[in-house]
Amino acid sequence: MQLLVAADCRVEVCTSPDVILSNEQIVSLIGHKCDGVLGQLTENWNHELFEALKQAGGKGMSNYAVGYNNVHVPSATERGIPVGNTPGVLTETTAELAAALTLAAARRVVEADVFMRAGKYEGWLPTLFVGHLLQRKTVGIVGAGRIGQAYAKMLVEGHKMDLVYYDPFPQPAFEKYLDGYGKFLESQGDEPIKWRRAESVEELLPQCDVVSLHCLLDDNTRHLMNEARLNMMKDTAVLVNAARGPVIDEVALVKHLKDNPTFMCGLDVFEDEPLMKPGLADCPNAVIVPHIASASLYTRGGMATLAAQNVAALVNGYPVWNKQDITPFLDMPIAEVPKAAPSIVNAKELGIE
Ligand SMILES: NC(=O)c1ccc[n+]([C@@H]2O[C@H](COP(=O)([O-])OP(=O)(O)OC[C@H]3O[C@@H](n4cnc5c(N)ncnc54)[C@H](O)[C@@H]3O)[C@@H](O)[C@H]2O)c1
Repeated sequence: MQLLVAADCRVEVCTSPDVILSNEQIVSLIGHKCDGVLGQLTENWNHELFEALKQAGGKGMSNYAVGYNNVHVPSATERGIPVGNTPGVLTETTAELAAALTLAAARRVVEADVFMRAGKYEGWLPTLFVGHLLQRKTVGIVGAGRIGQAYAKMLVEGHKMDLVYYDPFPQPAFEKYLDGYGKFLESQGDEPIKWRRAESVEELLPQCDVVSLHCLLDDNTRHLMNEARLNMMKDTAVLVNAARGPVIDEVALVKHLKDNPTFMCGLDVFEDEPLMKPGLADCPNAVIVPHIASASLYTRGGMATLAAQNVAALVNGYPVWNKQDITPFLDMPIAEVPKAAPSIVNAKELGIE
């Protein structure tokens, strides 16, 4: 808010009690005069909204998120409207929640918590809530971008897990890190970790004790985890999704969880948010949280700063930053924040790179 005011913007804040706004409500909020909008991932930014923004004189929109599958970017580009997102501040926070889901699922933390609160604990037993050890097992990463790599490092360093990753693009810096970490372990007299890049998701799945999804949601990754691929996983595996709900066919997952009681999953995101597919809530082998992967104070503050600065810069005609390092925008006195839009996803298409 302070950034926008300092950039000479009059700011209107939506105070609707509705958590999710309809497009009709958003069009009405845009009104006849609106230079820029900060939107949320629960909103469907399609041609209708971009047309309304264009008609209102809009010069830019920023999603308050790093993922922007809720934004139809070509509709914005067609109308000359730049679209911002907030990369760089969600990475570690999201990876930590994915790691928390992994541990909670593997060690049955939530089931045990529910049991304890229900007053069912009568004393230690060798068979009580036996889960899976992660140490020296194999973790699979689908989508080894910023978050996938951060998560991988947590499990590789913390639990000495071997790693298999699938990403359409090889990640040489990540591979160099994995080689270096293996050598470090060896230098300590420890066994090095092993890693490899799989050529396909199918190649990765049967090898892994944990599979964590960190790809973006697009036409190629929608229902990437379907019935056939779930069946390729070990029946004692842990599947984690802190990416986007539709990457998993949730109906197939519910069936798989019911058919395989030792198979565990940790989900931050759901196919039809805020709803869950029928039966999921009854699966004790699913750890489910309400899309909180980026919910740390640091990250939510950083996302607000980047989204606001995207809009402030676009409204004022400042250039696009689009560098990996966005730290100059964070924790700076407002007067020292670079006069630029931190991250614009259609900058190239619009010729404003
Ligand atoms: N749950 C949350 O609150 C939350 C928070 C932040 C991000 N996310 C999601 O996580 C995603 C990843 O974020 P990021 O910052 O790491 O993005 P990123 O762009 O750095 O990484 C995405 C990776 O997915 C890879 N990829 C593309 N197509 C693929 C495919 N078909 N199969 C496998 N991998 C593929 C890309 O090459 C890239 O390396 C975002 O797109 C967003 O949807 C969720």
